[in-house]
Amino acid sequence: MPMYDLIVIGSGPGGYVCAIRAAQLGLKVACVEGRETLGGTCLNVGCIPSKALLHASHMLYESHENFAKMGLMNAKVNVDWTTMQGYKQETVNGNTKGIEFLFKKNKIDWIKGWAQIEAPGKVKVGDTVHEAKNIVIATGSVPSELKGVTVDNAGGVIVNSTGALTLPNIPKSMVVIGAGVIGLELGSVYSRLGADVTVVEYLDVITPGMDAEVQKQFQKMLTKQGLKFVMGAAVKGAEVAGGKAKVTYALKKDDSEQVIEADCVLVATGRRPTVDGLGLDALGVKMTDRGQVAIDDHWATNVKGIYAIGDAVPGLMLAHKAEDEGMAVAEVIAGKHGHVNYDVIPGVIYTTPEVASVGLTEEAAKEGGRKVKIGKFPFMGNARAKAMMQADGFVKLVVDSETDRILGCHIIGPSAGDLIHEVCVAMEFGASAEDLALTCHAHPTVSEAVREAALACGGGAIHV
Ligand code: NAI
Repeated sequence: MPMYDLIVIGSGPGGYVCAIRAAQLGLKVACVEGRETLGGTCLNVGCIPSKALLHASHMLYESHENFAKMGLMNAKVNVDWTTMQGYKQETVNGNTKGIEFLFKKNKIDWIKGWAQIEAPGKVKVGDTVHEAKNIVIATGSVPSELKGVTVDNAGGVIVNSTGALTLPNIPKSMVVIGAGVIGLELGSVYSRLGADVTVVEYLDVITPGMDAEVQKQFQKMLTKQGLKFVMGAAVKGAEVAGGKAKVTYALKKDDSEQVIEADCVLVATGRRPTVDGLGLDALGVKMTDRGQVAIDDHWATNVKGIYAIGDAVPGLMLAHKAEDEGMAVAEVIAGKHGHVNYDVIPGVIYTTPEVASVGLTEEAAKEGGRKVKIGKFPFMGNARAKAMMQADGFVKLVVDSETDRILGCHIIGPSAGDLIHEVCVAMEFGASAEDLALTCHAHPTVSEAVREAALACGGGAIHV
């Protein structure tokens, strides 16, 4: 039995990236994964399959809404759900097999099964105890349970994000509980595929934590696409009868109880870390009061040789945050310096339009006592966005009014998820709005809207 330098538990974006970087740094690495395929939630039942469904349903929406306007007539596109599911699964398979290939290429052993940490340096999988100098916990998260609502993914009526990816058919009506990222992405998918979708949200705004102007514009645009919203409503329970579900919610404004019926209910009220079966209690690994593994600045737990990253630890539950932590902790274990800049982690919602943000919102900057100036540019002034018929939305830069340093950026519009990265790079380099404004951007591209927002922080945008 080999003595490993590192055993990573979990092969999601945090775990597999950590394993690969550690192997590249010359460590002998194994990764424990109990699923039949590598890649964790993201590749198997999260980011990747949902993006395939978002892409396909967006194409359908375009064919109905915009093709005729562009002179593409009589596009009678029908949905074959089985084929669409097959396309989604092929996308997943291609990616999970890709990780398997990368493991082989980097000589990483995949230990198949579920891990239990018997003691520091000892990981039990099945009946075998594997030894390693270091252990990284990268076990991710699972959908949170909601009191009064029992998820039954196999039944296909009340489902969570996993069940929503494999519904037996496209429901005529759907209630989405929670207007967060998952609810809006998957709600959009089924709305575009023809379902009558109602989102029931506890707060008065969608996508909590986002820039307030983006929240408003986003809700307006989704409403225009056909999604309905019940805001300020706390879901209390749901029942299934005769293949349909009845969802009961209480309106905050008057405490009145309401009932809404649908063919399908998607519970999307957050995720919680999962460390089930690892034996952390017995090891004395410290946890936070929110059930996350407590770590120091170098992702080390209080037990020597045991580290943790990704959704299992505090912070944003995002695949790319986990990847960054995976790379950084591998560097630390290899005796080098690992660093993650938590101030510059982008967030993207892959609806149409996409929504993307990085850094401080205007509200957060002001609450923090900063003096800020705002540079805003509407896609209506961007020729490329207009040619693509995607000119709704805007770019908003939040900039320190004394130093001109970029503090944050919030985009709703075409390719927002890609555009945000030039601002991420600018922020990493401590750039000012003027730096962005003086950078030549190719014409005609949607990226010009970012430059225009930067220009709006100084002498003024040109195309408004
Ligand atoms: P979320 O935390 O983003 O949103 C949950 C929403 O449910 C909140 O708005 C909350 O107010 C509402 N809610 C909670 N209890 C409720 C109740 N009883 N009645 C009505 N509303 C209620 O959670 P979500 O969307 O499930 O996502 C989980 C995590 O996964 C997030 O951290 C998210 O960032 C991450 N994720 C990120 C993606 C991306 O980056 N594109 C895609 C999918 C997930």
